[in-house]
Amino acid sequence: MENWFEDWFDSQYYHLLYKHRDYTEAEQFITNLFNYLNLDKKNTLVLDLACGKGRHSIHVNQLGYSVVGMDLSKQSILHAKEFENKQLHFQTADMRDFKYKFKFDLVLNLFTSFGYFKSHEENLSVLKAISSNLKPNGRIVLDYLNVKKALQQIPSEEKIKREEVDFTVKKKLIDDFIVKKISFNQGNKTYQFKEFVKSIDLNEFKTLANEANLTISETFGDYALNKFNEDSSDRLILILEKNVH
Ligand SMILES: C[S@@+](CC[C@H](N)C(=O)[O-])C[C@H]1O[C@@H](n2cnc3c(N)ncnc32)[C@H](O)[C@@H]1O
Repeated sequence: MENWFEDWFDSQYYHLLYKHRDYTEAEQFITNLFNYLNLDKKNTLVLDLACGKGRHSIHVNQLGYSVVGMDLSKQSILHAKEFENKQLHFQTADMRDFKYKFKFDLVLNLFTSFGYFKSHEENLSVLKAISSNLKPNGRIVLDYLNVKKALQQIPSEEKIKREEVDFTVKKKLIDDFIVKKISFNQGNKTYQFKEFVKSIDLNEFKTLANEANLTISETFGDYALNKFNEDSSDRLILILEKNVH
């Protein structure tokens, strides 16, 4: 599973498969989230970490905030850069180790952009890197899957047609990772990609947060910001704060 995320997320097929998770979904979530966060538009610098093509960053900027979007995928950042303005910037970065010239008031990590790495230390390094780029009273929003519900739905096999491509998506639990195997034919070639997302539940997030000197202050279970319920929620959306000594 070494560095699987470099090729898959940079490929045109990732964007084709998830095409339906579009700007409308992102806008609704961002609107709900920013109503809840109630931040001062003028003095708030937001980081969208693992921003992809920037669908959330763009909407946060439209709401009046200054935003930086970072992602490892060169192709996605190239696309996102077309939307840049004075208060919206994009750059490539690795979420395990990055440093920005200013500290952020808010860091977003959305749509399951966490838990990609094999070791606990590497996943922890993401939270530590976020924390070191955050102002003392800053907050983090981490939008993850609810693994308890996700695990009830696997193993599974699904056929998904997007434009002319017929994807077969198989999901399995292997060594504490939810592994999604994506295969399809194009021309006379067969392609196969794998996604690995660590099965991290709320308790494990509490441990990770504690190790990164962060506290979970709120949990939501969906993009409408209903309360998290481990048995029924689709998402696990965490609000984290920096521990102040
Ligand atoms: C599931 S996508 C979500 C993208 C975006 N947040 C959205 O909702 O459209 C995960 C993103 O994480 C990025 N990514 C994967 N590994 C990364 C890393 N080590 N550092 C920064 N970004 C990474 C991928 O390139 C991809 O854009």
